[in-house]
Amino acid sequence: MPSQIVSLVVNGEPREFIARPGTTLLTILRESLGLTAAKRGCAQGSCGTCTVLVDDRPATACLVAVETVADHSVRTLEGVASDGNLDEVQSSFVDNFATQCGFCTAGMIMVAEALLDRDPDPSEEDVIEAISGNVCRCTGYRPIVIAILDAARRRREAGVEPGRPAEEAVSR
Ligand code: FES
Ligand code: FES
Repeated sequence: MPSQIVSLVVNGEPREFIARPGTTLLTILRESLGLTAAKRGCAQGSCGTCTVLVDDRPATACLVAVETVADHSVRTLEGVASDGNLDEVQSSFVDNFATQCGFCTAGMIMVAEALLDRDPDPSEEDVIEAISGNVCRCTGYRPIVIAILDAARRRREAGVEPGRPAEEAVSR
């Protein structure tokens, strides 16, 4: 099939590019749009390092054919900070030493963003469930869970409104 023009809204900005049908969202983000926070790990949907939010739901971008999400909203780690300021999840990962090599970090943070957007006060079990599709090769799960719980507390104290509906993840 011939290449086609595909449009997405990426981190709030309309983006347009040419893609062959079947090209993954991960390839487009990394190679066409220069957004390299989402990482290519297994490329089979089982490690979560490529996780981004599609319409506010976690999606493993390595499994998503980009034409299937044409005109949808995609959020990546690059769109999380605003005006150069880390958000609560990012700063909590830093303060709680939740990153070692960092390969899993973008995916973990995007999953946490989706969780806290739908549940401002998750239990530890909720957090563990939310990150269950994300592999940390450095096995630093404990500080990651602590960081996400701490981020939830920071958001509540800052009065950040949850705003997005709870929905099932796509391609996970
Ligand atoms: S790269 Fe492992 S799930 Fe996508
Ligand atoms: S920090 Fe190295 S893979 Fe998680």
